[in-house]
Amino acid sequence: MGKKLILGLMIGMLAIAYGCSKESTGTTAYSLEDLDYPIGSTDVAAGTEVYAEYCEGCHPGGEEGDGPKIAGTGDSPSQLRWKVRSGGDDMPAFGPDKISDADLEALLAYALTIGAVVN
Ligand code: HEC
Repeated sequence: MGKKLILGLMIGMLAIAYGCSKESTGTTAYSLEDLDYPIGSTDVAAGTEVYAEYCEGCHPGGEEGDGPKIAGTGDSPSQLRWKVRSGGDDMPAFGPDKISDADLEALLAYALTIGAVVN
């Protein structure tokens, strides 16, 4: 085997290792299809608390604040789940480490009451 071949193999392996490590540290991408299922909670009280802790600061009472008004927008449950998980321009993403799947469903139960989602 020539030196060039060995060098080429090493560079190839490094590139693969780098690619893998990048993938594992990247943020999780959520798809709307995977988030499309019926709202799994009717616990509005719990959802109000989740909203107060994570959303109220920018969408006070569902109205415009640092973020836009979300009351009455009538998003689908999957859209709202996606928005919370993915964030956006000047909106942080909330992963399951911050808002658990159960808390997210409670949040949707609250969002129903202000028309931010429709079932
Ligand atoms: C630090 C401020 C901030 C926080 C906290 C925040 N948002 Fe937002 N939100 C924004 C901004 C700014 C936008 C508009 C830009 C964008 O869509 O990313 C937005 C957009 C949205 C939209 C889309 C509105 C539309 O008409 O397109 C929804 C829905 C939403 N936020 C819901 C939430 C929920 C639910 C929470 C709590 C889990 C939350 N936001 C927490 C700032 C925030």
